[in-house]
Amino acid sequence: MAYEHTPVSVTGKRAVVIGGTSGIGRAIALGFAAENADVIATSRDATRVANVTDEIRETGAETTEITCDVAERASVEALCEAAVEAFGGVDVLVNSFGGAARQSVLDVPENEWGRVMNTQLSGIYRATQVFAREMIGENGGEANGKPGGSIVEIGSLSTSLAIPELAAYTTAKGGLEAFTRVAARDCAPARVNAVRPGFTETPLTAETYAEGTHRHERIAERTAVGRLARPEEIVGAAIYLASDAASYTTGECITIDGGFAAGAFKE
Ligand SMILES: NC(=O)c1ccc[n+]([C@@H]2O[C@H](COP(=O)([O-])OP(=O)(O)OC[C@H]3O[C@@H](n4cnc5c(N)ncnc54)[C@H](OP(=O)(O)O)[C@@H]3O)[C@@H](O)[C@H]2O)c1
Repeated sequence: MAYEHTPVSVTGKRAVVIGGTSGIGRAIALGFAAENADVIATSRDATRVANVTDEIRETGAETTEITCDVAERASVEALCEAAVEAFGGVDVLVNSFGGAARQSVLDVPENEWGRVMNTQLSGIYRATQVFAREMIGENGGEANGKPGGSIVEIGSLSTSLAIPELAAYTTAKGGLEAFTRVAARDCAPARVNAVRPGFTETPLTAETYAEGTHRHERIAERTAVGRLARPEEIVGAAIYLASDAASYTTGECITIDGGFAAGAFKE
């Protein structure tokens, strides 16, 4: 039998990136558009959405402009409906939203804990549930004429590091990884995977890990690659997981950390 394999490609895929207006999500949205996918990049801020939508249009990709707050179910449902109206269906969802509230287990108040959980963790559940139902046809939708679709959750290396004063954030990201595994079972034939980035230079980390700071130097020193990641360096993993080349990959979490986790021991 002649050998054949499925290339890593998102050409023709219809993708939605929540948190696609900044940092890692914006890089993924523009990366998908550059690789011939149609892409909606969204978040809460209308100006940010307008700016990234213009950038996507410049690539020639189809898109539509819509804000979304993952803390609100109605907002996520409206996004899914808008994507189906614009593209006729959704093949890929990337969840790259959120921010890090720096508070220790001893200090984080109830309301802040609840706020982080409602966006970082429940937002993952909400968006995955709404879009998976569309992808596997429960809402009458279909992905590229066949059931399936791919959901990519952006987790964090913080799940295995216990970074000080990131109590709620780290707990939510740990929950995201457990959710990814159970969602892979429950949402099949849609595939659900996670990418676990290490320290990445984005607006989220611009201040905390700024070049010249003690933290920046410590991270670079421990990382095998010798520096923090650029957002563009997370895009390839998302493209792989979204592509049909990953047809047997689900419930998985891919770490992209430049060898940080491998660098604990230093002589
Ligand atoms: N940078 C890192 O070192 C790093 C490392 C590991 C994991 N991560 C993870 O990667 C993801 C992206 O982080 P980033 O560094 O790219 O941060 P970023 O540049 O601050 O981007 C975060 C994005 O999330 C959106 N967002 C925030 N709350 C939202 C909500 N309730 N509903 C919809 N969108 C929302 C923001 O837009 P609006 O404000 O307009 O809503 C923005 O587009 C996050 O999940 C983060 O935890 C980052």
